[in-house]
Amino acid sequence: MILVTGVSGGLGGLVFKGLSELDDVRVVGGTRTGDGVSARRVDFDAPQSLPAAFEDVDVLLVVSAGYAEDDVVFARHGAVADAAAEAGVRHLIYTSLASSGESMTIALPHRWSEERFAAGPFTTTILRNGLYPDVPVALATVGSAADGVLAAPFGAGRLSVVVRQDLADVAVRVAAESERDLAAGKPSRHADRVYELEGDTALGGADIAQILAEVLGRPISYRPTSLTETRAALAGSGLEPYQITHALSLYSNVIAGRAEATRSDLPPLLETAPRSVRAAVAEAVAGNRG
Ligand SMILES: NC(=O)c1ccc[n+]([C@@H]2O[C@H](COP(=O)([O-])OP(=O)(O)OC[C@H]3O[C@@H](n4cnc5c(N)ncnc54)[C@H](OP(=O)(O)O)[C@@H]3O)[C@@H](O)[C@H]2O)c1
Repeated sequence: MILVTGVSGGLGGLVFKGLSELDDVRVVGGTRTGDGVSARRVDFDAPQSLPAAFEDVDVLLVVSAGYAEDDVVFARHGAVADAAAEAGVRHLIYTSLASSGESMTIALPHRWSEERFAAGPFTTTILRNGLYPDVPVALATVGSAADGVLAAPFGAGRLSVVVRQDLADVAVRVAAESERDLAAGKPSRHADRVYELEGDTALGGADIAQILAEVLGRPISYRPTSLTETRAALAGSGLEPYQITHALSLYSNVIAGRAEATRSDLPPLLETAPRSVRAAVAEAVAGNRG
């Protein structure tokens, strides 16, 4: 059986739906609350409950629970690794961060988690996911486009993004094939593999301003802002302090030209062509409008 964590979330929900549509694999979802019927209770902050939650699970797909300070993420994912070992999980799949994010502060807890899982008594597959299209949109529109100017600290840099459904499709394939291989008495064909799942499109401030203008139906131009003024603006934005740290690091990487993908394993793992990033950005922009 496959267990997918975080199925109440955007990525986990898509993965669970995809696996549920397959006739030949059994899948169960995990949420922090659980209902004991359609979903098990899987809360990484409750380590004692995890071994029972992972009972009878062959393939555990761990959706990262990264919205927290690093030490909290270490504790969460460390608890998952220990519980998976205790419960006898045979293959663990972890949704990590792609190499285009290597210099960002969010990379550290992901790389730590990859190593922690790799040290377990199970085989692993690391899905190094690129950033979702809504990330630069959310970060760009922390400023305001109300006066026809999109002010954001992207400099002249660009950020590679990938559509969530493409990432979910790969996760479904890897989980299902791993489950089938184990059922046939073989190791997963994805054992000990690290896949870079990067998009083929990178967006800068001018690109986002252009998409924003198309969606809103009025001219919008991009104005790069400084990290100093952005830090001051974020301080009063209601974001958690750790989120401000990560946002500034991301901006800094974009300005430095370090946020663009150089290679991707996505096309050979997808059965279709990668979905349009621009369409997903337009959707995210439209969603932010209200
Ligand atoms: N690639 C990217 O651009 C990007 C951007 C942001 C985040 N991420 C990372 O990718 C993950 C998945 O993205 P997403 O879009 O699906 O995020 P999402 O919609 O916010 O969903 C996050 C999921 O993680 C679960 N979760 C949070 N804390 C947990 C805990 N202590 N124990 C167990 N589950 C927990 C949440 O459960 P509840 O619903 O119960 O809270 C939710 O189901 C995120 O959690 C984050 O680590 C990636």
